[in-house]
Amino acid sequence: MQEVVYLPTQNAYDLWAEIYDTNDNPLLVLDDIGLMKLLKPLLNSSDTIKTIADFGCGTGRQTFKLRTLFKNSFIYAFDLSENMLKKAQLRFDNIKEKNFRFQQMDFEKENNNFFFLKNNVDLLVSTLIIEHIKDLNLFVKKLKETLSPNGVAVLTMMHPAVFLRNSQAGFRDPETNQKIRPISFKYSISDIVNSCIKNNFLVEELLEEELDAAAMELENEKMLRWAKYPLWFGIRLRNKP
Ligand SMILES: C[S@@+](CC[C@H](N)C(=O)[O-])C[C@H]1O[C@@H](n2cnc3c(N)ncnc32)[C@H](O)[C@@H]1O
Repeated sequence: MQEVVYLPTQNAYDLWAEIYDTNDNPLLVLDDIGLMKLLKPLLNSSDTIKTIADFGCGTGRQTFKLRTLFKNSFIYAFDLSENMLKKAQLRFDNIKEKNFRFQQMDFEKENNNFFFLKNNVDLLVSTLIIEHIKDLNLFVKKLKETLSPNGVAVLTMMHPAVFLRNSQAGFRDPETNQKIRPISFKYSISDIVNSCIKNNFLVEELLEEELDAAAMELENEKMLRWAKYPLWFGIRLRNKP
């Protein structure tokens, strides 16, 4: 069996960027479904959401969606990988209204230059990045510092049950056929929830998703492998001033 190569997160995503959006990935299917469910309660008052941040925006999959859903907002999108960011910027190429800003950022660094966001973000979204974060508590603290007094954070992640099948985020390099994985850390659902409670967040909703019968009918080998298995987890938090 071919060995998996583990690369530093930035290097792995710089390589993955080229195929990330076209790489049949059941987790992305569930992330689309789950994120919409978690955002739903905010849609009626979407006008009040003026500042949005996307932490770990990757290729801008969800950043673009946020722009469509919250039309009156300014979006700040950050990521570690320059190649992922380039893909994200491409998505926004034809948008005339420049109400967005992309910036390279490493959330592992203690002192990020967040002065322009401090207590200013009405909605913070961070999808599928937490498993790559070494210091969960520091990351949650940063979310807290960034949010406005009544701001909302929506976090999504790979379900910890995935690790029980010896799997984690990764891809096969189309050129070398080599299996590549960024560095990942396993967090239980209680690790996440407790860190949020410790940082004085109100937990509004928890959600777990698995691929249902409809997805199974796709008869895609990768989808079938994960059918009826907890694959995705998401949480909506409200900042307690
Ligand atoms: C699985 S991708 C998710 C991308 C996007 N949010 C999505 O849902 O498609 C994880 C992203 O987290 C970014 N990332 C990982 N560690 C990071 C860090 N320390 N600081 C900033 N971004 C990071 C990676 O570069 C990658 O783009």
